[in-house]
Amino acid sequence: MIDLRSDTVTKPTQAMREAMMKAPVGDDVFAEDPTAIAFQQRMADMFGLEAGLFVPSGTMSNQLCLYMLTNPGDEIIVDELGHIFNYEGAAASVLSGIQLRTLRGTRGKITPELIEPAIRSTNEWDPWTRVISLENTTNKGGGAWYTKEELLAIRELADRYGLYVHLDGARIWNAITESNIEPAFFGTIADTLSICFSKGLGAPVGSMMLSTADRVRKTRRYRKMWGGGMRQIGILAAAADYAVDHHFPLMKEDHRRAREFAAAIHASEAFDIDPSTVETNIVLFDCKQGTASDAVQAFAAKNIGFSVFGHQRIRATFHFQITDDDLARVIEAVQTM
Ligand SMILES: Cc1ncc(COP(=O)(O)O)c(C=O)c1O
Repeated sequence: MIDLRSDTVTKPTQAMREAMMKAPVGDDVFAEDPTAIAFQQRMADMFGLEAGLFVPSGTMSNQLCLYMLTNPGDEIIVDELGHIFNYEGAAASVLSGIQLRTLRGTRGKITPELIEPAIRSTNEWDPWTRVISLENTTNKGGGAWYTKEELLAIRELADRYGLYVHLDGARIWNAITESNIEPAFFGTIADTLSICFSKGLGAPVGSMMLSTADRVRKTRRYRKMWGGGMRQIGILAAAADYAVDHHFPLMKEDHRRAREFAAAIHASEAFDIDPSTVETNIVLFDCKQGTASDAVQAFAAKNIGFSVFGHQRIRATFHFQITDDDLARVIEAVQTM
């Protein structure tokens, strides 16, 4: 199957498995895993923050960040397409006792003009606004990324109101690839940053929460409390480390293939797309007739996997295990649909 359902469907390569096999390990609950310790510091240095904590998933990483930044009864501002609002099982309400205030931005991105009027007062009966939560790139927004200027403007607003900024950087790698923004910049605009190694980068498991050394030290306790303390995780950290070195540089090609695919969709009779919405590896397109579910089934019969993303909307996600030959076969299928 040519699997474009998600950039999480990649399989570890032989070379990645070898890197995992060779990794020195120790018990990470005792903070004794040398590979995890080195990798956490490598990522902290790369993103300009003091420390990092390896966790099993992007959801746990996002939720630990929100937990560290808030008190029960606080409110956080997020685009209505945000992953933390749509796909994390209401975890912020359950685990942190906080409320999400959603805004209708553009393709998952919010602006100071939208955010400022939504900031509450601190009287007794308001939920207290505590965090502005951003996603970069946006998943449900179709892979859109923030410019440096947009991020700086949001940081300035947050500082003016004494708010924190959390950045869900599950696909920060795609944002960096396309924007050429240096990774350390993100540490200057985010109080907490969550990054993933299992989306597009091709590691089998793993995300990281990055912040100040003090917050990361406290987060270790909550990671354990939430069941995320793991033992010889050097095996997993080695896969993530390998992915940063060897798969991150391939993302430019994923983005090129996504754009070529979008051009074919645009030229097709059956589907609709505005090609300018394709900024990274995610392509959202629409059926002109019939349902997305029927179209996805028809593609599945041709051994091509897409995701249903709405009544008539389909998502295709490119990753390094989709080749140019695969792309040619997919385009042929689109043309005959
Ligand atoms: C933007 C974003 N944040 C967070 C996550 C959560 O990651 P995980 O599935 O590892 O919990 C995802 C998953 O796709 C995502 O797209």
